[in-house]
Amino acid sequence: MGALDGKVAIVTGAGQGVGRCHAELLAAEGASVVVNDLADSALEVTAAISASGGTAIAHQSDIANWDATGGLIKAALDTFGELDIIVNNAGLLRDAMSFSMTEDQWDLVVDVHLKGHAATAHHASRYWRATAKSLPEGAALRPRRIINTTSESGLFGGPAQLNYGSAKGGIVTMTLILAKELGRYGVTANCIAPRARTQMNESIDRFKKPETGFDSYHPAHVSPMVAWLASDAASDVNGQTFIVTGDEIHRMAIPTVAGAITAGDQPWTVDSISAHKSQLFGSDSPTIPPWAGPPMR
Ligand SMILES: NC(=O)c1ccc[n+]([C@@H]2O[C@H](COP(=O)([O-])OP(=O)(O)OC[C@H]3O[C@@H](n4cnc5c(N)ncnc54)[C@H](O)[C@@H]3O)[C@@H](O)[C@H]2O)c1
Repeated sequence: MGALDGKVAIVTGAGQGVGRCHAELLAAEGASVVVNDLADSALEVTAAISASGGTAIAHQSDIANWDATGGLIKAALDTFGELDIIVNNAGLLRDAMSFSMTEDQWDLVVDVHLKGHAATAHHASRYWRATAKSLPEGAALRPRRIINTTSESGLFGGPAQLNYGSAKGGIVTMTLILAKELGRYGVTANCIAPRARTQMNESIDRFKKPETGFDSYHPAHVSPMVAWLASDAASDVNGQTFIVTGDEIHRMAIPTVAGAITAGDQPWTVDSISAHKSQLFGSDSPTIPPWAGPPMR
């Protein structure tokens, strides 16, 4: 028996890399999977899942196209009669420093990541809300899942990634908003930041497969957390973000107030803020916060 028997999942950008591993594991755990990608590799992944005894169809479409993404949701419903899990994973990079970035580089990356995540959530939540509202009073809601993909660049700010890091940061906030909006319909929304060897980074030395020992950056190591978040075992996990890499899972703290000052029933002035600066920051540094991700292996 699989952890996802009887469930229907969409994985975006599942033609290769981390997304392919998610699609294969969700299928191995019993889900029927819609393998989305722009590329023909969606067909190859679907064939591989079927050859291993799983159930999958391919849907080749651009996740940043609002209407085409409506078609992706419809394909899952038309083929499998349900939709339980969306893994928003599709992505790409167009790195450049802020002073060199073109409008096209900005638009493409923000569209694929931010709009791509919002489009699946929009179309699926329309269906999920309608089905929840049509249930008889007191009937149990069907568990639904959105699993988004951010990046450490989005959490800590990656130089040369103004487009990518901004979109990925937005995805963390989007996850919280979806969690708050859709919980009443049985939907949880959570977010992962993977760190794994894919075509995005395979030329970087530290990502290379080691000669011996644990292959920490194998992309398949990210997928069990996605399958767990998709399963009924994680029904009470909502609005959370995790960094997932190798044998490590790191739960991120929700942004919290780190220091506060008050002017006492009168407006602040430039001088009075200066006078309270040390109280506002306490022992914290007032300059750029450190990159606080797990250490690199
Ligand atoms: N690999 C890492 O270490 C890492 C780190 C942080 C975040 N991520 C994120 O993980 C996700 C997967 O990345 P990956 O490393 O597997 O990259 P990848 O390039 O191997 O895979 C991305 C897939 O998305 C598809 N895609 C791109 N644009 C699309 C679109 N408009 N519509 C549909 N599909 C589209 C690509 O064709 C590709 O198959 C991305 O969101 C990425 O930003 C990866």
